[in-house]
Amino acid sequence: MTETPAPATTPSAYSGPDRVLSGVQPSGALHLGNYLGALTKFVRLQDEVECFFCVVDLHAITVWQDPALLTAQTREIAAAYLAAGVDPKKAAIFPQSAVRAHAELAWIFNCVARLGWLDRMTQFKEKSGKNKERSSVGLYTYPVLQAADILVYKATRVPVGEDQKQHLELTRDIAAKFNNDFAAPGFFPLTEPLIDGPGARVMSLRDGAAKMSKSDPSDNSRINLMDDADTIAQKIRKARTDPEPLPEDLETLKGRAEADNLVGIYAALAGITKAEVLAQYGGQGFGSFKPALADLAVAVMGPIGERMRRLMGDPAEIDRILADGAERARIVADPVVEETKRLVGFWPGR
Ligand code: TYM
Repeated sequence: MTETPAPATTPSAYSGPDRVLSGVQPSGALHLGNYLGALTKFVRLQDEVECFFCVVDLHAITVWQDPALLTAQTREIAAAYLAAGVDPKKAAIFPQSAVRAHAELAWIFNCVARLGWLDRMTQFKEKSGKNKERSSVGLYTYPVLQAADILVYKATRVPVGEDQKQHLELTRDIAAKFNNDFAAPGFFPLTEPLIDGPGARVMSLRDGAAKMSKSDPSDNSRINLMDDADTIAQKIRKARTDPEPLPEDLETLKGRAEADNLVGIYAALAGITKAEVLAQYGGQGFGSFKPALADLAVAVMGPIGERMRRLMGDPAEIDRILADGAERARIVADPVVEETKRLVGFWPGR
């Protein structure tokens, strides 16, 4: 019983409501990759389905965070959600640490997940690097907490960038094993990742083989949500490219990582496909494509940065939104944890 790794292919007997959850770490400035890979999808989904968007401060502290900055960083991510167009009346926006059910379910899942499953997680290997022995235990069990974030709402869909794919597979494995071990078929859903479109993997502007990331030491590698128009345009002008003009078709774009990335960014910002971008710009050099991309990026990102700055000038309003979101989140999450505890066999009193 204890070693049954239920395969992710187990058909889901889940029949509960469709729900969406996602989260972003308050561990530094947000960039275009976070915006295109996650935030734009949040905005689209909030009109379709019940949505929970948390600021994952419990995840952030798996590496050192200065306590004097963490609260402000949490408010900043909330401001980014709002500036990108998440409506707090439609979606619950809240800090993860304000809903205790996340941590409580994570402990139970720590006892469901197998060491072998976590040993395969590539993000831990990347983040711990040569310093595995000095990494926090939390960094190792990070994906288990992520599974708890998702399943404590019985979320059926999770919008994320491609780098989270492995964590979503683990979430399905944990759900399947829990349902199986505790003879509760369909108790947790087998959550679907939403990883689609040209914005799912935005690469560095300086290296088409590296992901755009907050931890890249070069600020020119990324466009930050708070960059002003001049900075955005300058970073695109300086973006690494090759000397060839853009091709007419997608096949020829393959193997040209930097060109492919800029075409993907254009497509994601304009809400069109990469093929449509090539239909328009194929045959043209970067001398004309880069200014067009810079204009588009400034038109889309500029107002978001301005809205963020305005929102961050009123932290009391952000706190009001976070408190309201946390209350709504607890209403859904607390009963799920109570039911889970009952299935595990914990003493049912209070
Ligand atoms: P985080 O904070 O690193 O990133 C937030 C979101 O941005 C996406 N993303 C990207 N998308 C495209 N291109 C990129 N270069 C790029 N960089 C980042 C990420 O995929 C993510 O969707 N583990 C998560 C946070 C988390 C979470 C969750 C997400 C905790 N619990 C539950 C979903 C559901 C993380 O570190 O994201």
